[in-house]
Amino acid sequence: MNRFAEKLITWYEVNQRNLPWRETKDPYKIWISEIILQQTRVAQGYDYYCRFIQRFPDVFSLAEADEDEVMKYWQGLGYYSRARNLHAAARSIAGMGKFPETYEEVRKLKGVGDYTAAAICSFAYDLPCAVVDGNVYRVLSRWMGIDEPIDSTKGKKLFAGLADELLDKKRPALYNQAIMDFGAIQCVPSSPSCLFCPLNDSCVALQTGKVDALPCKQHK
Ligand code: ADE
Repeated sequence: MNRFAEKLITWYEVNQRNLPWRETKDPYKIWISEIILQQTRVAQGYDYYCRFIQRFPDVFSLAEADEDEVMKYWQGLGYYSRARNLHAAARSIAGMGKFPETYEEVRKLKGVGDYTAAAICSFAYDLPCAVVDGNVYRVLSRWMGIDEPIDSTKGKKLFAGLADELLDKKRPALYNQAIMDFGAIQCVPSSPSCLFCPLNDSCVALQTGKVDALPCKQHK
């Protein structure tokens, strides 16, 4: 295992947030949590997730429900196309008989992009798929001192490749959760506490005074 992954995971074991969707390997529940968290913060999404899972505990109960009722459980979360896509995808999964089990099949579900497919497949099945979201861009761009814009085609390819290389292939679920929490709690966008960071001895951005400048975005 690489030193980066080792340090992240050690940090995670001490600092992790206990979240209900992390205590399950059920791809359905993980999928619901990831769709909620696409545009919603953990603090707000938490109660919605619990209520949703209580009412729709599996993909078949969601598939059988009326759209109106599904929307009711989404009321207040915003981005309502998420709920409509979720419902449509639940019906298609119910038709398949079970939750899809490969990255390619999961990625085909309505409302599931690269990030969400990687999250579901790593968390539920421990497939070696690296998650790449805003947190991951921030951690990688700073630790490696990369100023390629994260919203350029070249930047996206570069970071996706680096994320794959750094992923702990033996423990993808643990590693992905660790880097996600590390970005959310330690390597935060503004004024991170680099003094107490477990990666401060190898962080290029810290050593070159670029922490506040990274990640870079394209000039509009
Ligand atoms: N944001 C998106 N997915 C998440 C997860 N699984 N845990 C915490 N925050 C998240």
